Amino acid sequence: MTPIETILRDPAFPRLKAMVINATGLAYYADKDAAFAERINRRLPYGRVTSVGGYLAALEAQGPGGAEYQGLINELTVGETFFFRYIEQFDALRAVAIPECLRRNRNSRLLRIWSAGCSIGPEAYTLEILLKQHFADQLDGWQVHIVGTDINANFLEQARRGAYGDWAVRGLSPETLDACFDRLDRLWSVKPKFRQWTSFMPFNLVEGTIPSYPHGIGLFDIILCRNVMIYFDEATRHRLLGDLHKALSDGGWLVVGHAEAGPQLNELFTPVSVPGATLYRKQMEPAAPPPPPPPGRWAPAPVGTPRPAAAKPSVRPAAAAPAVPPPAPLDEAAGERSTALESCLARIEANRLDPTAHYQLGLVEEELGVGDPVAAFKRALYLDSGFVLADYHLALAYWRRGRLGPAQRHFRNACDALAGRADDEPIAEGGGLTVRELRGMLDLWLSGEEA
Ligand SMILES: C[S@@+](CC[C@H](N)C(=O)[O-])C[C@H]1O[C@@H](n2cnc3c(N)ncnc32)[C@H](O)[C@@H]1O
Repeated sequence: MTPIETILRDPAFPRLKAMVINATGLAYYADKDAAFAERINRRLPYGRVTSVGGYLAALEAQGPGGAEYQGLINELTVGETFFFRYIEQFDALRAVAIPECLRRNRNSRLLRIWSAGCSIGPEAYTLEILLKQHFADQLDGWQVHIVGTDINANFLEQARRGAYGDWAVRGLSPETLDACFDRLDRLWSVKPKFRQWTSFMPFNLVEGTIPSYPHGIGLFDIILCRNVMIYFDEATRHRLLGDLHKALSDGGWLVVGHAEAGPQLNELFTPVSVPGATLYRKQMEPAAPPPPPPPGRWAPAPVGTPRPAAAKPSVRPAAAAPAVPPPAPLDEAAGERSTALESCLARIEANRLDPTAHYQLGLVEEELGVGDPVAAFKRALYLDSGFVLADYHLALAYWRRGRLGPAQRHFRNACDALAGRADDEPIAEGGGLTVRELRGMLDLWLSGEEA
């Protein structure tokens, strides 16, 4: 009998496996006995312990902080990662989530990001590189914290060293390599200027409580927890998603791996889709109820505000997710929505030549799945051909209806309308949206257009 067969037949084997899965969440091994036994074999003989039962007893005696326990975890975890992995998710953070955080935190000037299950660190460093390459001016004078956590102590050690072989930087252009890394022997060492905001610490995502303020785990603006939950079972994933939700500030953003989306995410978070990626946003706490809008005075929420999950559009494209979402509905309550509809209609009745009233009617109609929003946006543009958000929302409305040609034409029109305008100029009817931010959104739509 081989050593692995001996381990597999040991009566203590199932208990050891259950104990480890319970402590780490790694249910991935539930139906992979041979792989699990092979890793146990690498740890045996541990000291004088040679049987699985003895090994289990030794682990239990040590507790989760023990050295052998940690050694076993280091064997069991899978750390595959690389810089700018799923680039489209980083593009989405750059175009939508980070600008929103900068707006929301402009008073506190604090930005907190968590790379949960960071492995050897590329995800966390990628975030610092992204922030410094695209938001350096805006973050001047801010406190930025990027914390990477993992259960595997060896991974964290390498993360702190910040030096990598070719595999972790695969796919990066020579320019990016040159800009972000120093060559150290045969390794790629993250330049010191991209390590100032990033730190690493051990943290087990399935043990203890989240948020954990003593560990600095809580009140994050953005959490990336990618390719971690795929190793967990449904119950653990469910619990962890609830915990991550609690660890985000109101309005904060969660990014998960492509294989990790599921119905619970959509229940807890508002999915915000941009081309190639979906981000998940925690709803803002509702503020004190606003006074009812006086007729004709309603204004939509900022253009980048995601719609609450409950108010999904009735028309959805079959293949792809919607773009940067249209503005939030006026209010949650259906009664208030219809008041908004009436209010828009009343404004149009009072002044048929008011482009803003037609634009807002389009937004409300699109939101409620009633009327003809395409026609309303077109009227707004007819009355004011430079109404850039009317072009943008007309493009989105076409896109949702599968009419890609006109959608593309109006995205382009919106782009052209921004040409020559100052980056920080506010967009009319944009609720604080700037020219730079709208350009970022449009770039996402138009990049790859040729292909
Ligand atoms: C495949 S890597 C993902 C790395 C990175 N997030 C990415 O997507 O490129 C999964 C990481 O999750 C970590 N992990 C697994 N179980 C964990 C747990 N219970 N607590 C914290 N980290 C865990 C592993 O050690 C590993 O580094």
